[in-house]
Amino acid sequence: MSVAEHSIAGAQARGHGFLASSVGRKIIMAGTGVILFAFVTVHMIGNTQAYMGAESFNGYAKFLHTMLHGGGIWIFRAVMLVVTLVHVWAALSLTLSNEAARPVGYRLLRPSASTFASRMMRWSGIVVGIFIVYHLMHLTTGAAHPAFDPADPYANFVSGFKVPAVAGFYIFAQFCLGLHMWHGVWSFTQTLGLAHPRYDTLRRAFAAGLTLLVVGVNISYPLAVLAGVIH
Ligand code: HEM
Repeated sequence: MSVAEHSIAGAQARGHGFLASSVGRKIIMAGTGVILFAFVTVHMIGNTQAYMGAESFNGYAKFLHTMLHGGGIWIFRAVMLVVTLVHVWAALSLTLSNEAARPVGYRLLRPSASTFASRMMRWSGIVVGIFIVYHLMHLTTGAAHPAFDPADPYANFVSGFKVPAVAGFYIFAQFCLGLHMWHGVWSFTQTLGLAHPRYDTLRRAFAAGLTLLVVGVNISYPLAVLAGVIH
């Protein structure tokens, strides 16, 4: 029996189910992480329409809002909300059970097997969470955008990033997203059982490559507006 099977069997034998085992919650965190990761990648690609001009970008936004007779975006929103909440719940409950298992901290912690990104998971996750709330109020509802026009997402995008403090926060949040995704991809490939010397180089390249791509392109949007490339 593998360590994972042993842990699940142990939790089940104690009268708890899959959710009570730390491996079960890790699998849930990995599964929801993959969905969030796919969304961020598709969203980054969709936003490249901004480089094609106002008509393309607004046409793309209109498509998102009208697909499936306007119901598509609400189905998407409901799925994203549930997936995000489950991801946060799994992360919180795993952190709490880990802390309960070791109430006294290590006297001397030498994080030899951990990286900066792994130690920052909690903080990078919190910044990404704050970013998402701000981002929705900024470019979706307009509550945090002084010149919001619901009929012109392109104008909202350009006037939004013209404010250096806003552009700076977006850039900072993308670095945090990058740290989170980098360790997240590394970790979920491990949860999926791919941690093997034969695959490690590939896992490392996949985690770093996709993270750099998403973060690099996302950061290019505020920078392109500040530089006047998108106007
Ligand atoms: C600089 C990078 C980003 C840009 C330029 C950007 C741009 C936009 C724009 C323009 C919208 C509104 C679309 C519309 O109303 O038609 C939007 C919505 C949204 N964005 Fe982003 N985004 C970025 C990064 C992110 C990231 C990193 C996340 C998640 C971690 C994210 C999550 C969302 C969500 C959940 C929505 C709401 C979709 C909806 O329900 O209407 N965005 N984004």
